[in-house]
Formats: sequence, C-alpha cells, structure tokens
Amino acid sequence: MNKKTVRAGIVGAGFSASFHFEAIRKVYGTNVEVKGVYALEGGEAYAKQRDIAAYGSLEALLDDVDVVHCCTTASAHEPVAIAALQRDKFVIVEKPLTGFFGDGSEDFNGEAFSKTAARKSALASVERMLKAEARSKGRILYAENWVYAPSIQKEREIIEKTGAQILWIHGEEAHSGSHARTYAYWKYSGGGVMIGKGCHPLTAALYLKRVEGKARDGKPIRPKSVTARTHALTRLPNFRDEGHIRCDYFDIDDFSVMHVVFEDDTLATIFASDIILGGIHNWLEVAANNHRSVCNINPNTAMQAYNPAEANFKDIYVVEKIGTKQGWSNPSPDEDWFTGYPQEIEAFYRTAAYGEPVESDSSLAADCIATTYSAYVSAERAGGEVEVKRF
Ligand SMILES: NC(=O)c1ccc[n+]([C@@H]2O[C@H](COP(=O)([O-])OP(=O)(O)OC[C@H]3O[C@@H](n4cnc5c(N)ncnc54)[C@H](O)[C@@H]3O)[C@@H](O)[C@H]2O)c1
Repeated sequence: MNKKTVRAGIVGAGFSASFHFEAIRKVYGTNVEVKGVYALEGGEAYAKQRDIAAYGSLEALLDDVDVVHCCTTASAHEPVAIAALQRDKFVIVEKPLTGFFGDGSEDFNGEAFSKTAARKSALASVERMLKAEARSKGRILYAENWVYAPSIQKEREIIEKTGAQILWIHGEEAHSGSHARTYAYWKYSGGGVMIGKGCHPLTAALYLKRVEGKARDGKPIRPKSVTARTHALTRLPNFRDEGHIRCDYFDIDDFSVMHVVFEDDTLATIFASDIILGGIHNWLEVAANNHRSVCNINPNTAMQAYNPAEANFKDIYVVEKIGTKQGWSNPSPDEDWFTGYPQEIEAFYRTAAYGEPVESDSSLAADCIATTYSAYVSAERAGGEVEVKRF
C-alpha cells in the first residue's frame, strides 16, 4: 500500500495533547509528520520533549499542516477550529465541541447565569462551526474516544447485524475530580461535570441510536427531549473533605443525571460525577429488544491483580485515578486502547488522507451540545422536560 504522508500540528500542550501525540505515533494507515505545537502555555517544553518545533502563533502552525489537533481548553475550540477550517485544514476537536463560556467578565459565575441564555450562545457557537465546515475543504473530526472504544464498536456491530431496537441505554463517566486547574470554572469549561464528563457516555448513546436508525431505516434516530438534575456536592457547606475528592470548584456542578428521550420515544439515562473513588468509572449498558450488552470501558477485568503491599507497585502504572495500588485492582494492560484513543486518531488520519467516512462527526458533536445545554435548562427548572434543538 502506498501510504500518504499527512502533516500534523498540535494546539495545546497539556494532558490531552500528550495522549494525542502517543496516538499519532501508533497511526499505521498514513505516515504522519508532526510539524510542531502551538500553545498559550507549555508549548516549548512539550516540543522539546518530543523533538518537534514550538510555533509562536496558531496561524504559522496552520500554514504548515494538513491536520490540526485542537487540544486546548474547551473555550478555545471554536476559534481554533474555525481558523483551521478557513484554511481548508482538517481539525480534530477534543470534547466538548464547544459551549457557552461566560459573558466575558473575569468573575463570571455560571451557576447563577440564565441557562436559557447559555444554551442560546452555545448553539450559536455550534452553528458558526458548522457553517465554517460547510464552506471548507477541511472537516471537523470530533475526538469522542468513546465512539471508537472497542466495546462500543463491538456493540455497533451487534446492532447493525441483528437489527436491534435499543429501548434504554444507561451509562456513566465518573471519577474523583479532573486535574485541569481551569476545569473548576464554567468560563473555561462551558459547564461542569454534566458537559465535561457526561458528554462521553451521552455521545456514545447518541451514536448507537444513530447506528440503529441507519441500519434499519437508513436514517439516524436523534434526541428529542431531555430531563436533568445537577448538584454541587463538594460545595455543600456540610461536605466533609478527607482529601480523596477534589473540592475546589468555583461555579460548576459535580453530579448530574440526564434522561434523554429519542425521536422514537426510547431512552438514555446518563450519569456523570466527580465524587467517585476507586479509579475511573466509565461504562455503558444497552438494553435492546434482542440482546443486552455491558460495555466496561474502565475499569474492566482484562487483568486483575492482588498486591499485598503498596510499595511493591511503586513503579507500576495500574489504571487512571486509582487511589491505592494495594489490595485487589484491575490494571489495564493497554488503557489507551480500551479507551479508544489510538483507534479514533487512526480513523481521523484515514479520513484526512483517503476520504474515509467519519463515525464521530460534527453532527454527532452538535447533538451532544444541543442535548447537554437543554439539560442545563432542565436542571435550572429542577428537572422539567426540555426540547433538544436539531441542526
Ligand atoms: N477525551 C478525553 O478523554 C479527554 C481527557 C482530558 C481532556 N480532554 C479535553 O481536552 C481539552 C484540553 O484539556 P486538557 O486536560 O488537555 O487541559 P490542560 O489544561 O492540561 O491543557 C490545555 C492546553 O491548552 C492550551 N491553551 C488554552 N487556550 C489556548 C489557546 N487559545 N491557544 C493555544 N493554546 C491554548 C494551554 O496553554 C494548555 O497547554 C479539553 O477540551 C478537555 O475537555 C479530553
């Protein structure tokens, strides 16, 4: 096979920029030439560590590449993506696609702000991105790794080959608190845990209902309405901090539940929280008319280990966010693989190089944003049902 060479650039130099780089190194369908990185902070060190160039501006980086990885704080996804699309580049956008990031005031408080106004602004941002994509030769490749996680792709195969009707999906993403400093503020993250973590299982659920509709009737089944609750448990005056759960959030929710009704009146219930100990808790369960599947993304039982003394495992990475390595644990033999990181990046380079179809595209990402911001409106009304806009 004559492999095409694709020139790549990274924007952002934090946590996600690191796992994107690792995934690029595993791409086998194309030759990827990483030209360099541009970041507001940390670009020089990131570049040095990986022997790539550190660019002084986004524009200079974009001029040198075919594909750009947008691994910035969520509030910068729209400007970075639009700049790339205007230059006809492919842009791999980390989750969430975009959102509402405050009114520009330094001390913006998302908790008190009208969620109807937040939704209006977030949907306008989605529209601007979709318009820029429609005018571009490039595309938005939405980096929702759950879509590419092997267990979710296996479920896709089951749905497609058996013509299953999904009646209810339930799922969760949770752990003991995100590391990023900016995560604590609505103005950088576009919301709290409902968007930051809930977007993962929600998008997987939206994706599987699309797969179902396309397999049976050639047309995706999309979200119709949502009911939601959000809470800020670690900001309760009576929360007792014992040092295990991050608790310095400024104005965001740390517990959420979204109940989605689809066009065919079937359901998805999505939990997300920052209060769960014992490592990442990422799972999705599908209740269909002809089968039931449990997709355990993290933890899973690919490996189980018993360690009688913490010190034994001091040099051993076990699994993300695990609090202790003593006793029983589920070490992940290849955590990135179970999570879908290398698979999504491989797929995106195949799209950029050979025009292969995209599973996780801007339309799926737009449905995720529309559902989540309607969910914030619902939560503001203590759980009233709210319609989801369809683009
Ligand atoms: N898919 C996943 O599993 C996953 C995991 C973590 C984070 N994320 C997503 O990745 C994105 C980044 O999160 P992170 O954890 O890497 O954050 P981080 O704080 O570790 O890094 C953010 C980087 O973006 C840079 N940056 C911010 N604004 C910028 C701008 N306008 N131009 C250039 N650089 C800019 C910062 O300087 C920093 O280098 C977020 O959207 C987050 O939701 C996804």
